[in-house]
Amino acid sequence: MTQPRILLGVNIDHAATLRQARYRGTHTSLHAEPNLTAFTREALAGGADGITVHLREDRRHIQDDDVHAIAQLTGVRLNLEMACTSAMVDFARQLRPAAVCLVPESREEVTTEGGLDVAGQLERVTQTTRELKAAGIEVSLFIGPDETQIRAAAIAGAPVIELHTGAFANAWPTEAAAPELARLRAGCVLARELGLVVNAGHGINYDNIGAILTLPHVHELNIGHAIVSRALFTGIRSAVAEMKSHLTKTA
Ligand code: PXP
Repeated sequence: MTQPRILLGVNIDHAATLRQARYRGTHTSLHAEPNLTAFTREALAGGADGITVHLREDRRHIQDDDVHAIAQLTGVRLNLEMACTSAMVDFARQLRPAAVCLVPESREEVTTEGGLDVAGQLERVTQTTRELKAAGIEVSLFIGPDETQIRAAAIAGAPVIELHTGAFANAWPTEAAAPELARLRAGCVLARELGLVVNAGHGINYDNIGAILTLPHVHELNIGHAIVSRALFTGIRSAVAEMKSHLTKTA
């Protein structure tokens, strides 16, 4: 039986990181580069199945107006990563993206570093999940491949989890990657048994993607840094198409 094709969500935050390095405070200027809506269109032309942005509390890369402009582009299925706060819930309810992924956020981290502690703040996550679902938004929780967190995600009522692949990616290609991959595999199986849709992301690149594709039941991969970095050499359309070709080989 053929497996359903794994979808590719492209996280474009680091294109915004590059723009903000020069145009912080003036990003709406006509000359501000790179232009994020043009970048998004090119990513879609390369075969991105979805576009992911993380509107951080400190607005270090993507800005509010970027998110609105990207959401309005034709053919964009937008996945908004955000912290579990009432201000972000208000933003999401207004925007109504196809999906929201709740992530932990701390000001010091360069990028999202650990998974959300769903078990430790079950009431808050459950309430936020309920509010977003009531607005017609699909809710995903970004968590480590940890049994307690996966079970808590199911209890919180989230239909989707995104498994944090960072520990595996950091260990790759040493032997220490194998137990991390095994943890991810067990997480995928448990999530499936609990009726959850399983996405995965963080640190996935053109080298470790082969190992990631051995994981069962994965619906979508969210990949940012590797694709945006490759785009500096090849352009985003080609960088996305190359990653997409790995995913379509599995179909
Ligand atoms: N998924 C989530 C929830 C993220 O926060 C990020 C960015 O840290 C990614 C996926 C993409 O990670 P990367 O940029 O390493 O591909």
